[in-house]
Amino acid sequence: MTVKIIPIADIRYASRVPHVPAQIQTPSGLLADTLGRPLRDLRISVTDRCNFRCSYCMPREVFDKDYAFLPQTSLLSFEEITRLARIFVAHGVEKIRLTGGEPLLRKHIEVLIEMLAKIKTTSGQPLDITLTTNASLLAKKAQSLKDAGLQRVTVSLDGLDDAIFRRMNDVDFPVAEVLKGIEAAQRVGLAPLKVNMVVKRGTNDAEILPMARHFRHSGVVLRFIEYMDVGATNGWRMDEVLPSAQVIERLQTEFPMLAVNPNYAGETAERWRYADGGGEVGVISSVTHAFCGDCNRARLSTEGKLFLCLFASQGQDLRALLRGDFSDEQIGGAVGHI
Ligand code: 5AD
Ligand code: SF4
Repeated sequence: MTVKIIPIADIRYASRVPHVPAQIQTPSGLLADTLGRPLRDLRISVTDRCNFRCSYCMPREVFDKDYAFLPQTSLLSFEEITRLARIFVAHGVEKIRLTGGEPLLRKHIEVLIEMLAKIKTTSGQPLDITLTTNASLLAKKAQSLKDAGLQRVTVSLDGLDDAIFRRMNDVDFPVAEVLKGIEAAQRVGLAPLKVNMVVKRGTNDAEILPMARHFRHSGVVLRFIEYMDVGATNGWRMDEVLPSAQVIERLQTEFPMLAVNPNYAGETAERWRYADGGGEVGVISSVTHAFCGDCNRARLSTEGKLFLCLFASQGQDLRALLRGDFSDEQIGGAVGHI
């Protein structure tokens, strides 16, 4: 018989409640972290659940029927998310990306998007709102997401070969449905669309060229992501990482490629374009070129903890402030001191 051990304190979820300063300064719109990196980009996780079991992210041995997903009361409500979004926007955030798990599994996500779409940046512009999805529900939801005020989507897709794709999502989900979702998103104008492909050497690296051929001349920006170690649970091995430099070499064997200058400082993807005008691709070298130095992202977890780094073990418990007796100014002041 296997014995289940329930940890009393799990370091992954360690957090502290941020200090609320007695003297509150008006947000300058120039919030930076202790390394002086400006925060422009906030990722908000709206659910910890996913209907896929990609082995590099939610391996089914860990995320099984006994896995304790968060109860509804632990999740930030739409009102709480919107309140925090306003506070962050006052501090200079201009772009919000909704993530998960799979964000389209959160009920009535369109309502949240409508609420966020009303927020204006410090320079009076509409917020840039995007969403990262596995596209399993996108064909059905693209129009309502667009109508709610979503601007763009990024779709995760690890190959075009149906057998390889079904193996990677590990729930036998067919690639044709994802492609329908991508088409629907393009049709309703959730553009420019990005497609993220996590490359695992020996698993889906043979899909690099077919993916490039498929998305050239389509307006979709295909991005190849180095397979990362996101915790001790997915059996990460360096020999399964295909360095981005080799991805570009493989593309070069069929298509002449030219390097493109970055859009902005802190951009995580290195950009390349097809010399024949077929469009752009990106490579994200999370393993071979860690880009922490000029990263400008913050991440808000499903239960309201703020992380300034994907690998940070300690989050700041903003939910405790939201559910405590604090004003927006006080919470904004606390965020300004993180
Ligand atoms: N390595 C690289 N990217 C990952 N993602 C999740 N886990 C990993 C990993 N181990 C990224 C993928 C996916 C998004 C939801 O998260 O890009 O598209
Ligand atoms: Fe993770 Fe995305 Fe795969 Fe879901 S679809 S398991 S969130 S990588």
